[in-house]
Amino acid sequence: MNQDDLKRAVAAAAIEYVPADCIVGVGTGSTANFFIDELAKIKHRIRGAVASSEASAKRLKGHGIEVLSLNDAGDLPVYVDGADEITRHMHMIKGGGGALTREKIVAAASKKFICVCDESKLVDVLGNFPLPIEVIPMARSSVARQLVALGGQPALREGFTTDNGNLILDVRGLKIMNPVELESTLDHIAGVVTNGLFARRPADVLLLGTASGVKTMTA
Ligand code: 5RP
Repeated sequence: MNQDDLKRAVAAAAIEYVPADCIVGVGTGSTANFFIDELAKIKHRIRGAVASSEASAKRLKGHGIEVLSLNDAGDLPVYVDGADEITRHMHMIKGGGGALTREKIVAAASKKFICVCDESKLVDVLGNFPLPIEVIPMARSSVARQLVALGGQPALREGFTTDNGNLILDVRGLKIMNPVELESTLDHIAGVVTNGLFARRPADVLLLGTASGVKTMTA
């Protein structure tokens, strides 16, 4: 089984968590894309989806699935998304695809967060993957200086603009021993829109693709 097979398997398993006749929250990235393809197979059973990015909205619409705004949809029963890293406590780093802000918003509005990952994403401590931080363009340098003061090494994601018209700083070298605390600390830097730590609102269920099958984990 290659990595795509593992992603496809967890995407298929996530369909079990989608209630009939609901509006489902949909993440962004290659694993979320497999989930969208699975969702297409049961599209007659759902009312539609709220997408966490323009890219996911386009893929959903391509399958004939109605895409609603979160404002119109209200709270959602379930959100399905991948992660760049996840711990056994269900804390995550997200934003490798740059969609972290909308992902955090849709996750916050969802009753259940189902994280779908291949086994390479499960880690003991977060931080090997550079932490993405979405910043308002005029604050790029001042935010970067404050990240350096916190012990990080920020790098601008070259040639990339988020769906919200902002920039991404990818930060290496942060010791993430307390993800809940660091998430709050980073959110308090003026000019930070969102940071890629998803710890205050962790995943509820992790569907982990392994060579021996899909493992279901909870905190
Ligand atoms: C996008 C994300 C993705 O969930 C994360 O990057 C994982 O992507 P993939 O499923 O392609 O490995 O946070 O902003």
